[in-house]
Amino acid sequence: MTAFRIAVLASGTGTNLQAILDRLHGRDGIEVVAVASNKPGAQALERASGAGVETGAFPAADYPDRAQRDAAIAGWLEQREVELIVLAGYMELLSPEFVRRFRNRIVNVHPALLPAFPGLDAVGQALTHGVRVTGVTVHLVDEGVDSGPILLQRAIKVPYTRDRAQLEKEIHRVEHELLPEAIRLIAAGAVGIDPENPRLVDVQTRE
Ligand code: GRF
Repeated sequence: MTAFRIAVLASGTGTNLQAILDRLHGRDGIEVVAVASNKPGAQALERASGAGVETGAFPAADYPDRAQRDAAIAGWLEQREVELIVLAGYMELLSPEFVRRFRNRIVNVHPALLPAFPGLDAVGQALTHGVRVTGVTVHLVDEGVDSGPILLQRAIKVPYTRDRAQLEKEIHRVEHELLPEAIRLIAAGAVGIDPENPRLVDVQTRE
């Protein structure tokens, strides 16, 4: 069986990338074949190298605009025959051309229950709003900000103390389960788009 080839884009510390490397890479027919970042110094790139995965850095300053930078990333990913692109803390918007080129083949993890609190600092937004429940969403990426079809979600209680560090720790713990679970489902061919309504993701499992 040929491996299901995934790439991860990350800008930060890369704990979600690490969860993917630890839980999926080289198992269940899934292989992480490339990790790219907009930040050449991102810890995520070190984690990838540590696991023997090829890395690429695409800083904005090297390109005239976002469209051309994204075209360079897209070409690099296509050369590596990537079947799924995972955004794991990739803190840049992707150009509409990039999204169209990989339609329904890009997933993102977001630290809130979308459509609540899209965009930056979702944890801060939830705490400021005073919600009692927030969570984690894994969704397909479309041209908007955190607006694509929802694949998996899990709820998390906000501590009564509104302790941000405690909530973030729990969000990360859940992300590290939910994102690999979503990738496993996609790799297994269990995820499809409802032909009647492209906003709806169908998941076929025997659960
Ligand atoms: C995660 O909380 C993710 O939801 C958000 O960025 C964070 C990345 O964390 N999009 P890490 O770099 O994987 O540790």
